[in-house]
Formats: sequence, structure tokens, C-alpha cells
Amino acid sequence: MTTLDSTPARPLSWDAATKALHWSMALLIPLAWVIAIVLEQLPRESRGPLMFFHKSVGVTVLALLVLRLLWRATHTAPAGETTPWEPWAGLAAKAGHALLYILMVAVPVGGIVTSFANGRSVPFFGLFEIASPWATKQPFAGQVAEMHEIFGHLLLVVALAHAVIGILHHVVLKDRTLVKMKPFAKA
Ligand code: HEM
Ligand code: HEM
Repeated sequence: MTTLDSTPARPLSWDAATKALHWSMALLIPLAWVIAIVLEQLPRESRGPLMFFHKSVGVTVLALLVLRLLWRATHTAPAGETTPWEPWAGLAAKAGHALLYILMVAVPVGGIVTSFANGRSVPFFGLFEIASPWATKQPFAGQVAEMHEIFGHLLLVVALAHAVIGILHHVVLKDRTLVKMKPFAKA
């Protein structure tokens, strides 16, 4: 009788598609946030062009996230590094990544609902525009805007903490966590 090990071997590093999606989103999310901060400083009547870009970049984040989740669900991730604080560090990493995914869904979806609730359409770089299902401002528009703002800031704070932890892995623990996500590296 032959015994075959059917467990797929885990890759040494994240694959090129995961890296491309991770790093493009790591640029686009802070970009959407910076545009939002800048546009809030402007008088309401001159926010139009920046809001157009804020919404378009945010919709791009949501589209890339859908691809990323599909890709993640169908591809094997590299094994996590072992730290001196297992199993807690591994569990905390999983929880932190899950929180990032939840916020990456909640923030753009919340932004879309905010736009619709204000009776405004959602543009995508002038290529297409999704009309609001509501013609006029809805009574809950203020609440969803507030939630979108809070979760938008929270996403940035959690992503920043995540980046710091990634750098600490490299500099202090000297493990392969960051190297495995290095763009343009083969393994
Ligand atoms: C990762 C993506 C996004 C991030 C990080 C983000 C972040 C933010 C933040 C922080 C604010 C509040 C700015 C402030 O008050 O200082 C804001 C406002 C806003 N965002 Fe987003 N956003 C994202 C995606 C979107 C999307 C996809 C849309 C709609 C298509 C959108 C629509 C809006 C609108 C309409 C406001 C103004 C809300 C109001 O005060 O009435 N956002 N965004
Ligand atoms: C908006 C910014 C960012 C977001 C939303 C984000 C999100 C994520 C998520 C959700 C994962 C988990 C991948 C998975 O298990 O499916 C991840 C992995 C990773 N990220 Fe980020 N990231 C951001 C920025 C950064 C930055 C700036 C760095 C580096 C300093 C970084 C380094 C890493 C590393 C090393 C991993 C792999 C972790 C592991 O193998 O356990 N990320 N990122």
C-alpha cells in the first residue's frame, strides 16, 4: 500500500498576486484617508473634485479587496513565524488581520452608504457612476457619515500598528515575516 501525503506544501513566501494586492492597498487606503482629511478642510462648495477622487479611490480599494479575499481563500498562505509568545502572538496576529479585513470592507461600504444616504451617486474615475437609490437626503445620513469617519480613522490606526509590528518582526525578532511580503522578491 502506498501512502501519499495530500497536505499541500506551504510556500516560503506570499505569492506575487498577494504581494501586489497587499502593497497597492497599503498605498491606496492612506491615500483615500489623506484626501478625506484635506477635503474636510475645504468649504463645502469646493469639495467636489477631491470627493470625486476620494470615492473613486475608495471604490478601487473595495474592488481590490474582493479579489484579495477570493485569492486568499483559494491559495495557501506561508506558515507564520514562531515567536517567544506562542500561541498568543499567533492568535493576536490572526485577530489583527481579521480586524483589518473587516475594516477594509466596512469603511468603503460605509462610504458608499453615506453617499447614497445623502442622495449622491458614487463615481468611479469618470468611467461609470452608480446612482443613489434615494433621490433626497435620508434621516440617517448623519449617523452613517459619522460611522464612516470613525471607522476610517480606526482603519488607519490599526494599519499603522500592523506596519509597526511588521517592522519589529524584522528588526527585533529578525524573522522572515516582512521578507515574505517583500515586493519583487522570488522567495
Ligand atoms: C479605504 C477607503 C476609505 C477611507 C479610508 C475613507 C476615510 C474617510 C474619512 C476618514 C472621512 C472623514 C474625513 C473627516 O471628517 O475628517 C471620510 C469622509 C467621507 N467619505 Fe470616505 N473613506 C473611504 C472610502 C470611501 C468611499 C468608497 C466612499 C463613497 C463611495 C466614501 C465617501 C465619503 C464621504 C461622502 C465622506 C464625507 C462624509 C460627511 O462628512 O458627510 N469614502 N472618508
Ligand atoms: C493600509 C495599510 C495596510 C493594510 C490594510 C494591511 C493589511 C494586511 C492584512 C489584512 C494582512 C494579512 C494577510 C492574510 O493573512 O491574508 C497583511 C499581511 C502583512 N502585512 Fe500588511 N497591511 C498594510 C500595510 C502594511 C505595511 C506598511 C507593512 C510593512 C511595514 C505591512 C506588512 C505586512 C506583512 C509583513 C504581512 C504578512 C504577515 C504574516 O505573514 O503573518 N503591511 N497586511
